[in-house]
Amino acid sequence: MLKGKISDEEMKLVRKSFEIIGDIVIIEIPEEIIHLKNLIVNAILKKHKHVKTILRKVGEVNGVFRVAKYEIIYGSETETIAKEFGCKFLVDPTKVYYTVKLSGERERIAKQVREGEKVLVMFAGVGPYAIVIAKLAKPKVVVGIEINPKAVEYFRKNVKLNKVDNVVIYEGDVKEILPKINEEFDRILMPAPHSAENFVYLIKNKIKVGGIVHYYTFASQNEEKVLPEKIKEIFEKSGMVVEILNIKECGSFAPYVNRYVADVKIIKIID
Ligand SMILES: C[S@@+](CC[C@H](N)C(=O)[O-])C[C@H]1O[C@@H](n2cnc3c(N)ncnc32)[C@H](O)[C@@H]1O
Repeated sequence: MLKGKISDEEMKLVRKSFEIIGDIVIIEIPEEIIHLKNLIVNAILKKHKHVKTILRKVGEVNGVFRVAKYEIIYGSETETIAKEFGCKFLVDPTKVYYTVKLSGERERIAKQVREGEKVLVMFAGVGPYAIVIAKLAKPKVVVGIEINPKAVEYFRKNVKLNKVDNVVIYEGDVKEILPKINEEFDRILMPAPHSAENFVYLIKNKIKVGGIVHYYTFASQNEEKVLPEKIKEIFEKSGMVVEILNIKECGSFAPYVNRYVADVKIIKIID
């Protein structure tokens, strides 16, 4: 849509893709072509007529809450409802982490959940994993823990919005909350790829022998081959002998750095 309106040099700098969350578009526009902002906004609006707000990403996902920095370049409303697999998620991407890019991954995990399982989602955000699992599978309970108060507020609203009654929410730091939960889970999700390694020790005695941990991590493409051994060692250091059932890439984080998920089976707990 911009062809003929901008130079070839400028065209090379235009990002070829952007994320659409409900009626909000999130796009990167490099500083060198910021003078093309209005042309880009108009092109998006022409193609995606339902869009009410366009956010320009100006800072990477960062901090404990894992929220990127944005500037509003069109519209004013930053709250929206995203839909995935018949579930609705009320979110404000300027205040909480949420991405539609992981919706396929959430469905993949929900399909593995057997009837009656007790599932724990550490780092639960606004509840997409917990709610998709509660909706698509038949778990006994899904427990979610989240530290960002705004994300917890949306998580509570999303539980109501999706009419799921077997989701339990805890607000706070997993390091304080999890040791106080006297449960053993069949499945634990650790969707905090930037630092999951630092939290593995918490799940010993919370995951059943034979249970599955979905462990997310960032790694460079060069590291991919050694990831299974590395993850095994991380679990072993925390007193768990594991088998890596599957490792797959599920998105990119930076050039040559991907997000990976490992499905980890707990074979033995060692004291
Ligand atoms: C990468 S986001 C994933 C959120 C959600 N699972 C999703 O996929 O949309 C990681 C989340 O973990 C939360 N978080 C970070 N450190 C935490 C901690 N120590 N205890 C509980 N939650 C934490 C952040 O606030 C953030 O919402």
